[in-house]
Amino acid sequence: MPHVVTIDGPSGSGKGTVASRVAARLGWRNLDSGALYRLVGLAAERAGIAPDDVPALQRLARNMDAVFRDGHVFLDNIDVTDAIRTEQAGNAASRIAAIPQVRDELLAWQRGYAREPGLIAEGRDMGTVVFPDAEVKIFLTASPRERAERRYKQLKEKGFNVTMESLLGEIAERDKRDTERAVAPLKPAVGAFILDSSGMDVDEVVERVLAHVRERLPAV
Ligand code: DC
Repeated sequence: MPHVVTIDGPSGSGKGTVASRVAARLGWRNLDSGALYRLVGLAAERAGIAPDDVPALQRLARNMDAVFRDGHVFLDNIDVTDAIRTEQAGNAASRIAAIPQVRDELLAWQRGYAREPGLIAEGRDMGTVVFPDAEVKIFLTASPRERAERRYKQLKEKGFNVTMESLLGEIAERDKRDTERAVAPLKPAVGAFILDSSGMDVDEVVERVLAHVRERLPAV
C-alpha cells in the first residue's frame, strides 16, 4: 500500500506550493484535487453546460479526459494549466464542488492516483472523505489577512489591479462557501496536525510538514 499524507486547508493557505515541494522532496506523487474541480468548471464553461445542470455536470466529471503531466494539466489534450488558475475558474470550481454527484464522480479518480511509494493529497476533504485512512493528516491554515496579503502580492506581480479590501471580501466569501456546504465541507480531519502558517515563509512550512511526516513515518 502506498503511503498517503493529506494536506487540507482554505484557499490561499499555501498548501498547493507546500504539497508539491514536499512531494518532490520525498519523491512521491502529488494530487492537486482543486485542479480537478477547476477542470470540471472550465470544461462545463467550454461545453456551454449551465451551472445547475447536475446530470450534465456529472457526466462531464465522469468522462472528462484530464491528464496531469510534468506540472502541467491537460484537458482533451489541450494545456489548460494557466486557464484553470484564474479567479473566475476558482469561483466556478467552488460552486461546482458543492454538488454531491460531481464529488462522487471524482472520488475513484482521486483514490486511484495513489501509487508507490507515496502520495501527497492536497485539497479540502482529503483527510475527511477521500483518504479517511491516510497515515498522516495535516490542516494548513493562515489568517484571512495573511492569505489576502499573499494573494495581493501574487496578483500585483502579474500586473492585476486589485485591492486588499476586495481580496479580503473574496476570501471570506470562498471560506464561507467551502466550510458551510452540506457535503465534504472544509474542516480539519480528526487527529489532523493543525499548522498555522501565519508569519512563516514557505521554506519553514515545508520543513515543518516534512518533520511531522518523518516523525509519524520514520521509514520515509
Ligand atoms: O484549492 P483550489 O483553490 O484550487 O480549489 C478550487 C475550489 O475547488 C475550492 O474553492 C473548493 C473546491 N475543492 C473542493 O471542494 N475539494 C477539494 N478537495 C479541492 C477543491
